Amino acid sequence: MSERQASPDRPGIGVLISGRGSNLQALIDAIAEGRLMATIALVISNRGDAGGLERARAAGIETLVVDHRAFATRDAFDRALASELVSRRVALVCLAGFMRLIGAPLLEAFPDRILNVHPSLLPAFPGVEAQRQALEHGVKVAGATVHLVTAELDGGPIVLQAAVPVRDDDTPETLAARILIEEHRIYPDAVRVMLDGGWSVEGRRFLRPRSPYQTPGISR
Ligand code: GRF
Repeated sequence: MSERQASPDRPGIGVLISGRGSNLQALIDAIAEGRLMATIALVISNRGDAGGLERARAAGIETLVVDHRAFATRDAFDRALASELVSRRVALVCLAGFMRLIGAPLLEAFPDRILNVHPSLLPAFPGVEAQRQALEHGVKVAGATVHLVTAELDGGPIVLQAAVPVRDDDTPETLAARILIEEHRIYPDAVRVMLDGGWSVEGRRFLRPRSPYQTPGISR
């Protein structure tokens, strides 16, 4: 079975992007290298000029541009996204630099099945320019978070996090580059955790079935 076809062993995921798509690339690479048993069924961008579309095409993945400006309401846009993803039977939706808020129609189509990667140690610094916010606040440790998507911006249960030091001579760009390395490392790990199943959500807490100390290769 090709790594491009969904199967019980290789569930399909949908990836939503708006820009360069380096996190999408991290998922593509993890699948190609056998670190993630999944297949990317569809990449959707709300922008036709997103660099990530080319990365998807180069990997032979179906792409779709769904321009939010073509829809009268946010719900109508979300319904269009949900319908494309549902028709490909994706098991999980991964936001990877997708710069639109996710509303009820998509959340209801994929309850606890939408992940996002954010360049801060949430709940610190949600929203845009998280790395600049961290630097200006003066924190000494920054990082990356993969979390479940809820109606609250960058507010859902945390699946995985990774920390990086903040250096005195950092700029938002140098800090972003250091954080991005961790994003690329933990996003495929978080997708694997989700697809492996057995997890639960208790209140705000995402709980994995086993201790990470018993699961080699998965970030703590
Ligand atoms: C990443 O920093 C991600 O955390 C944030 O947007 C950026 C997207 O980068 N949500 P890329 O498009 O994956 O390269």
